[in-house]
Amino acid sequence: KRIAFLASGRGSNFQAVLDAIAAGEIPAVCVGLVTDNPRAHAIERAKDAGIPATVVEYARFPSKAAYEEGLLAAMRNCRADLFVLAGYMRILGAAIVHEFSGRMINIHPALLPAFAGLHAQRQAVEYGVKVSGCTVHLVDEGTDTGPIVVQRCVPVLPDDDETALADRILVEEHKALPLAVKLFCEDRLEVTGRRVRVR
Ligand code: GRF
Repeated sequence: KRIAFLASGRGSNFQAVLDAIAAGEIPAVCVGLVTDNPRAHAIERAKDAGIPATVVEYARFPSKAAYEEGLLAAMRNCRADLFVLAGYMRILGAAIVHEFSGRMINIHPALLPAFAGLHAQRQAVEYGVKVSGCTVHLVDEGTDTGPIVVQRCVPVLPDDDETALADRILVEEHKALPLAVKLFCEDRLEVTGRRVRVR
């Protein structure tokens, strides 16, 4: 399968999937990175791996609609079977969600449906939950609402701050995302309504 990534920052989840592909664990080739952030460290990672990176910078477009069109064009250009949102920090427009429905996944650093949206790890610490984790889900029209593919959990310890919890969750993200991509690429996901069964 051909897979492409959307990322806005560090790109450690992107790297985790690239490493799993390089190790022969996922039957896929990564065909592109699209980012909204020209300073994203993910771009260096793409370069190191010989993967074309496209920057679609929000500020360079006259309107949100124009940005969305630019992003859609960059995504179509990848001709990917699967798009992986790995720390992509913008809400996608309806046209993009619709066009790539069923073949776009996102990683979120909480056990959805708890703590959707921004600063999920901070939300978890402030709420006082005793376990949290990460979720890989298919992307639908909502924010972090799509059908759940993989979840992994971690304890929240009494002295955790946002950073300590984020670090613990990130270790699990780097397992959950490659697994979800692998299952997709092996055609092992069966989606019925909200429920995703692994064959
Ligand atoms: C991860 O915690 C991801 O779940 C969240 O943003 C962070 C991105 O980290 N949405 P990285 O860029 O993959 O290192």
